[in-house]
Amino acid sequence: MVRRLWFPIILLGLTLGVWSAQASPPERLRAEAEETARLLAKLLQAGRLVIEQNQPLIDDPHKGEKGFTPDVFDQQLREEFRKKTDIDLNTLSAKQTDFAVPPLARELLPALIEASREVVRDAQVVINQRGIGYKNFIPATYGSQAAARFSKRSHVRLKQTALTPRNPKNEPDEYESSVLRWLADRPNSEAYVSELTESGRTLRVIMPIYYMRECLACHGEPKGEWDISGYPREGAHEGDLAGAISVRIPLDRP
Ligand code: HEC
Repeated sequence: MVRRLWFPIILLGLTLGVWSAQASPPERLRAEAEETARLLAKLLQAGRLVIEQNQPLIDDPHKGEKGFTPDVFDQQLREEFRKKTDIDLNTLSAKQTDFAVPPLARELLPALIEASREVVRDAQVVINQRGIGYKNFIPATYGSQAAARFSKRSHVRLKQTALTPRNPKNEPDEYESSVLRWLADRPNSEAYVSELTESGRTLRVIMPIYYMRECLACHGEPKGEWDISGYPREGAHEGDLAGAISVRIPLDRP
């Protein structure tokens, strides 16, 4: 049973170090889960950005071997994540005293990197095709696949979603659609929603994604007209809510 969102909590980042303070165990658990969810969403966003930055290369019809290997992607992903969060994933395990990264995140961030690498690995044949421009390997397809792979192996579920998704697998559940509807009227690219559901047994974190100018070639005007990826355009404008990254963490981990 999903609780309706009456009093969503909007947080402006920076909850750093809460789990290391003298919080009670339930508060600590929640704070740790919340920071982990936030970092997972940031890592998926960083991956989306890396794909976007490499889109001209990926879609270059004149080039066969692109050199966009899992290792190259991995390196750029870590760099983007470091820019966004100041966290260096290369030294994560060594810095055990660094309270900015909770233990749960230390476990799950490398798992998401691995899932992401696999998506890029499996796309190599497509990426390296010569003679074809648009290949349908874009931030959203990367994001859907990496999130699905990660979720299959983890007790944490990570997902891209939107109110009217193109990919039916991204269909929002009742909780997600209530938050998306709420967020749609409140443009604020820094905020995210975090709430305990199922009598405090599950933490849900929703990090919104907004359309930028470069998204509108596919998601913008004219509404209803086909875009290059074979979907009708949404008629969206810059700054509109595009969807969200949704993270669901059970707090009563077996
Ligand atoms: C080349 C066309 C294209 C561009 C450019 C593009 N998208 Fe998409 N978008 C798609 C396609 C195709 C899907 C469905 C992907 C899938 O199969 O999972 C999608 C899916 C999404 C989703 C997941 C929800 C859903 O509809 O399934 C979000 C969120 C999203 N796009 C946001 C963006 C944002 C933000 C940008 C700009 C940074 C962007 N898109 C740029 C084509 C595009």
